[in-house]
Amino acid sequence: MSLFIRGGRIITATDDFVGDVLVEGEKIAAVGPALKAPAGVEVVDAAGKYVFPGFIDPHVHIYLPFMGTYAKDTYETASKAALVGGTTTLIEMICPARGDDPLAAFELWLSKGKPSACDYTFHMGVSRFDATTEAAIREIANRGIASLKVFLAYKGAFGISDEELYSTLRLANELGLIVTAHCENETLIAELQKRLLSEGKTGPEWHEPSRPPQVEAEGVHHLMTFAEMTDAHVYCVHTSCREALEAVEAARLRGVRAWVETVIPYLVLDKSYAEKPDFEGAKYVMSPPLRDKCEQPVLWNALRSRLISTVATDHAPFDYAGQKEMGRGDFTKIPNGIPSVEDRVNLLYTHGVCRGRIDLQTFVDAASTQAARLFGLYPRKGTIAAGSDADIVVYDPAYRGKISAKTQQMAVDYSAFEGWPIEGRPSLVTVRGEVQARDGKFVGKLGSGKFLTRAATHH
Ligand code: URP
Ligand code: ZN
Ligand code: ZN
Repeated sequence: MSLFIRGGRIITATDDFVGDVLVEGEKIAAVGPALKAPAGVEVVDAAGKYVFPGFIDPHVHIYLPFMGTYAKDTYETASKAALVGGTTTLIEMICPARGDDPLAAFELWLSKGKPSACDYTFHMGVSRFDATTEAAIREIANRGIASLKVFLAYKGAFGISDEELYSTLRLANELGLIVTAHCENETLIAELQKRLLSEGKTGPEWHEPSRPPQVEAEGVHHLMTFAEMTDAHVYCVHTSCREALEAVEAARLRGVRAWVETVIPYLVLDKSYAEKPDFEGAKYVMSPPLRDKCEQPVLWNALRSRLISTVATDHAPFDYAGQKEMGRGDFTKIPNGIPSVEDRVNLLYTHGVCRGRIDLQTFVDAASTQAARLFGLYPRKGTIAAGSDADIVVYDPAYRGKISAKTQQMAVDYSAFEGWPIEGRPSLVTVRGEVQARDGKFVGKLGSGKFLTRAATHH
């Protein structure tokens, strides 16, 4: 399929100019200020609109057995949701339980991805380290997985010991893999949870006090020390607060190769949402928790100054009815997660670009380019350039609408952003040259997404 996108304002992490994009087959054939449209090509008028590279969400959960239940989305629903919201590539975490065979888990998650309309790849979760895991990681790396995932939290589930963390980082360093990590001190969480519950503090509003900023910062500091001892390259997922950022900044000054992700819920929501009465706060329980509102300007500043590289979602969709409700009377049993894969780009644009907190280049860099660079997808993904995959978002800044669970594609019974206004949305979204979404509707083909193999780049 050939497409000619005419007269849009083309924005990459470094460029901003009015021009045209010629797509031939799966690739961008040319980009420039005044290209000639070949005869017979479909022309898209992008005047007055932005032309962005397809957005990349480097932290989503779609198939997730977790806290006694399963996340609600499938690749059918999650990829449709991602695409109408402008995200063209998903990086999911493979999350085997401690006793699972890692290679079998890899095959299972690969099979789950088949119906996707987005392109996708995985961070390989390491929930146990032994000879079997080591052999599996070597094989999986050869099959195109360039990043790992470890949890320093979730005692008794995905969490690994310090010995296992050390071995994982050593192996990652040898193979050039980057290790993404959920950083919270699991012992402190378990003790604080016990204490709060014994005091009769059982509602969702007690989730944040059970995992305060110091607990997250301790996890980050811990990871940084291990990275320093092993020379491994590390990436802190869902960073929520100043203390955690300061731990990374200090480590970077010592020479640690560390990068930071935050997620859209922390930029726009705060802990008062988890304090909503009648258990409604459960909709806003995720880990690390939503923080005090005073953390939001810190995160925006860190994004603007590029201490934070990426804005992901940590999309983890659990229904309110029947799933979040499992934690009535005990907040530690509320499945953790806030669904947002559909809304990330529009919320970041509305609350970041439109409010003057970040510029357009930072927006593209944080929501697309940096994820491509860090995870071995650049320049195939993450930019608009001749030779790159034709993953393109034509974005209409004049659109005005509202987020609602009634109209969303995500297979979950609520929206954490119900009724929130949006000041812009994608009017056309392509994945490798195929139009997959138009004006808030999925118009593409399930199963057309590709599993993306990646080369290790973190040597
Ligand atoms: O609350 C969260 N973050 N749920 C998903 C699992 C994880 O920790 O990423
Ligand atoms: Zn996590
Ligand atoms: Zn996660």
